[in-house]
Amino acid sequence: MSMGSSKFFLPVFVTLFCVIYVINGIYGLNNGVGRTPPMGWNSWNRFHCRIDENLIKQTADALIKYGLDKIGYKYLNIDDCWEGERDEQGYIHASNITFPSGIKALADYAHSKGLLFGIYSDAGYLTCARRPGSLGYEDKDAMTFASWEIDYLKYDNCNNGGIPEQQRYKTMRDALNATGRHIFYSICEWGRSAPHLWAASVGNSWRTTGDIGPTWSSILNILRRQHQITKYAGPGGWNDPDMLQVGNGDLTIDEQKSHFSLWAALKSPLLLGFDIRNPPHNTLEIVKNTEIIAINQDPLGKSVNIAQSTKYFDIWTGELSDGHVALLLNKAESPITIKLNFATHLRLQGKISIRDLWEHEEKGVYVNGYSREVPKHGIIVLKLTGGTKISENYDFIVQYHDYDNGYLIDEFYDGAFGRI
Ligand code: GLA
Repeated sequence: MSMGSSKFFLPVFVTLFCVIYVINGIYGLNNGVGRTPPMGWNSWNRFHCRIDENLIKQTADALIKYGLDKIGYKYLNIDDCWEGERDEQGYIHASNITFPSGIKALADYAHSKGLLFGIYSDAGYLTCARRPGSLGYEDKDAMTFASWEIDYLKYDNCNNGGIPEQQRYKTMRDALNATGRHIFYSICEWGRSAPHLWAASVGNSWRTTGDIGPTWSSILNILRRQHQITKYAGPGGWNDPDMLQVGNGDLTIDEQKSHFSLWAALKSPLLLGFDIRNPPHNTLEIVKNTEIIAINQDPLGKSVNIAQSTKYFDIWTGELSDGHVALLLNKAESPITIKLNFATHLRLQGKISIRDLWEHEEKGVYVNGYSREVPKHGIIVLKLTGGTKISENYDFIVQYHDYDNGYLIDEFYDGAFGRI
């Protein structure tokens, strides 16, 4: 390139960069919500399309009766199947069979109890349950939702006419921004177009996989896909490995605790999915563990990541605003002992105090590591305080693939002493 042409290209490039920057600045997500992951309840996992206004009201009452609202479960969210028809002007209305009082009345009911209220729509012509979707009606629907005083929109991806995700999800973002109401915007495109790479400026959370089922294998399948993307979660924009199945299906108590702990530590939205009106006793106890909830709601907003993974166990670790957290997960079919090594798994050295967040008990002060027997499909969640970081002390990292699980594992080596 000649001097002359570089003189010409530089200003053009700078101007172009500024224009793009300004456009992004103007049209970025602008709602200020979701500084910590949202917590609440959603109708889908338990009820699918079998919903009506009485169920939603009774669930609002139950959230309060069991004190769930007081510990953070504020969002009462209706999923698919509330929709009726569009009118001649194109405005959407609730089904007059199942929601005869309309959505505004339900939102008012939730708000009168101090809850927040969420709704569902789809970035397609029809929702997944083939009700009217919002594609082509984004402005009207966003205005309608804001006039109903909605606080949360889950936006699904069925029947989308092949239009790229980013385009469709941005259109709804801009429509929501234009209403001036602060609505948590939950992008549900099932991880189709690597949303972790673009969705932080579009929505407040993004689904990372297809739908969760109430089975242990479904939970592990979803878990397996999270470690590459954990760094993209942060205040205002969260990875969403889908809503909780705690209390549904045949999950054992240990499986429910593992599911709940991992989702909390991944900084997933914590949306309960069981029938809160008749809660299974143990389930209520699990989702009311405020020490696990505190990991999810930690203001630092950093997700755990995988520190070691074998066919039989996983160790996930991460930083908190006031320490560290470590999760020891037994994926095997019988109890096993799992050893947490402070240097390898946490890059920590020195004296470390350990607290067990399920036993609610201080376990003492340790220097090198800490071992525990973990039941089949169970988990130990530890909060660690003290110690100092040794992240600068390694000479090289060896990365290898755990082909059984599809994980990429980092191992730290000191030139003189070998693996640390
Ligand atoms: C999709 C979503 C689910 C649920 C259903 C509703 O499958 O991923 O979470 O919202 O649609 O039809």
